[in-house]
Amino acid sequence: MTKNLNILVVGGAGYIGSHTTLSLKVAGYNVVVYDNFLTGHHDACFGDHLVEGELINKRLLIKTIEKFEIDCVIQFAALIEAGQSVIEPIPFYQNNVAGTISLLEAMHATKVKRLVFSSTAAVYGNSNSNELLHEDKPKSPINPYGESKAIVETMLESCVNAYGMQAIALRYFNAAGADAKGRSGERHEPETHLIPLVIETARGVRPHINIYGTDYDTPDGTCIRDYVHVSDLASGHVQAVKRLFEIDHPYFDPINLGSGYGYSVKEIIESVKKISKQEFKICKGKRRHGDPAVLVADASKAKKMLGWHAQFSNIDQIVRDAWNFATK
Ligand SMILES: NC(=O)c1ccc[n+]([C@@H]2O[C@H](COP(=O)([O-])OP(=O)(O)OC[C@H]3O[C@@H](n4cnc5c(N)ncnc54)[C@H](O)[C@@H]3O)[C@@H](O)[C@H]2O)c1
Repeated sequence: MTKNLNILVVGGAGYIGSHTTLSLKVAGYNVVVYDNFLTGHHDACFGDHLVEGELINKRLLIKTIEKFEIDCVIQFAALIEAGQSVIEPIPFYQNNVAGTISLLEAMHATKVKRLVFSSTAAVYGNSNSNELLHEDKPKSPINPYGESKAIVETMLESCVNAYGMQAIALRYFNAAGADAKGRSGERHEPETHLIPLVIETARGVRPHINIYGTDYDTPDGTCIRDYVHVSDLASGHVQAVKRLFEIDHPYFDPINLGSGYGYSVKEIIESVKKISKQEFKICKGKRRHGDPAVLVADASKAKKMLGWHAQFSNIDQIVRDAWNFATK
């Protein structure tokens, strides 16, 4: 039934989009990747077709949707570096909000109603307790990046009500790891995510790794985060697409994609040391402003609504796949 559906993957040349394309292909979908290669890579395009274009180019989006008879869209394309969004917010609102408006206009014009949107745990903002983050927690982002995603979620709710769309906003926690067969992996420039930074340190590309804060109220004093394997995220998108085709009424649902389990910065470093068999220099620094002690997903809604749970998200597997990709 779902075999011949055509999926437009906007931002499909990027880290999570490329892994999702691989999973969509295994599940039997036809995939059209649409990307401007701002941060994406040509060798990470695994779709049946590639269209090089800007998110803001509504005419090209309409042409693409019509040409390939698109049934459903997945929207990954965004600027993603939260720290940079504080320094220079306008490009984040332009790309992430205005760009997504252009995509929604193109979908509306072509009567495509199903959308999976890349949202983020950053919509929750700071957590004052160590409780698992549930989707009911009010959105309270603390930087323009998180705000841009929260705005799009609000827009989606309005569009669902007005145009009878079906949309799911997947709120990812910390995406990590790489395709187990080495076909894709994390290549952000500049890299700000912990695991690739520790791996670069183990490879001697960086002189040391900084730990920002060792006095948190956690068992080893360092921050705890929920790391979810990128191939788990990919399968979460396949499940979300399937879910959207089970529904005909207006539908909007924000759903966490996390493992529901947290690892500390020190545990990540220990895992990289073990997998890489390398020793390296660790510098203990002060806490960073706005870094809560613990951010871990309540992953129960994804299980209930999508039949999804993280399968590959234990830390040694994540680090092993990321290490193999970085050193291949
Ligand atoms: N990486 C994470 O840990 C993480 C966590 C939470 C949410 N997210 C979200 O997931 C999505 C994908 O993240 P990623 O890590 O794969 O990032 P990425 O930078 O690797 O991928 C983004 C892709 O979108 C493309 N793109 C960006 N702006 C575009 C535009 N205007 N027009 C066309 N293409 C454009 C880029 O070229 C790239 O291929 C983003 O929306 C991000 O906010 C990522």
